[in-house]
Amino acid sequence: MSDYSILIQGIKKKTGIDLSLYKEAQMKRRLTSLYEKKGFRNFKDYSLAIQSDQDLLDEFLDRMTINVSEFYRNALRWEVLEKKIFPQLLEKIKRLKIWSAACSTGEEPYSLAMVLSSYLPLRDISIYATDLDVGVLNRAKVGLYNDRALKEVPKPIIDKFFIKEGASYQVVEDIKKTVTFKQQNLLEDRYDTNYDLIVCRNVMIYFTEEAKDQIYTNFSKALKPGGVLFVGSTEQIFNPEKYNFESVDTFFYRKKQ
Ligand SMILES: C[S@@+](CC[C@H](N)C(=O)[O-])C[C@H]1O[C@@H](n2cnc3c(N)ncnc32)[C@H](O)[C@@H]1O
Repeated sequence: MSDYSILIQGIKKKTGIDLSLYKEAQMKRRLTSLYEKKGFRNFKDYSLAIQSDQDLLDEFLDRMTINVSEFYRNALRWEVLEKKIFPQLLEKIKRLKIWSAACSTGEEPYSLAMVLSSYLPLRDISIYATDLDVGVLNRAKVGLYNDRALKEVPKPIIDKFFIKEGASYQVVEDIKKTVTFKQQNLLEDRYDTNYDLIVCRNVMIYFTEEAKDQIYTNFSKALKPGGVLFVGSTEQIFNPEKYNFESVDTFFYRKKQ
């Protein structure tokens, strides 16, 4: 068995996370630099040490989950969401069921609430937001950000939904209340159903083709007919028909009726 396979087995046993579903070359590169920094010589020794050292495990989890995010990431796509996708979805119903999958530190679900507030009172907005990494979810719940995370946010939105605290920006309570955060592994756990909108951005790039295929299949099942999947700006789906999707706009896919 290869060195890396030993790590895969050890991590699966310890955390339930299946590293074999993440692109191997990329993951190996990230983890090799980490274990070398910690003084290990190979994946096998590193894997053994992780089994009994919580700090090492936390550091490993932090390195394997790439948590970069920002509000209104790829701002032009958020304009399409606001001007085209939300109006279409709201034609039929006024209470949308929305999921921000792999939400990291919360910028994405909070952006969704801010955009949707142009159409609905905040009390009618509820967004479900999940991530594998409990650490980022705890930060998301606090809702405190630096100005880099806000660089795409329109000024009126900053004035309305953030409170400046020193060099940081705090998301206001009314927006925070619209989002429910929960830990979930997209590769293992069951998905809720009947969604009008699923936003899953900048995580599929880390998965193998096999894992992506399974996740798109699951997203399709989780959406209502007519529901929309919003993906990241390098994550075009090349065979949307396979999942019963049609393209509505670049990086937006609608489940066929
Ligand atoms: C680069 S961030 C993307 C954040 C946000 N969606 C965005 O586009 O700005 C990727 C996130 O995917 C999460 N992630 C990685 N593997 C996952 C899995 N199997 N299930 C759920 N989330 C996962 C990581 O913890 C990380 O927070």
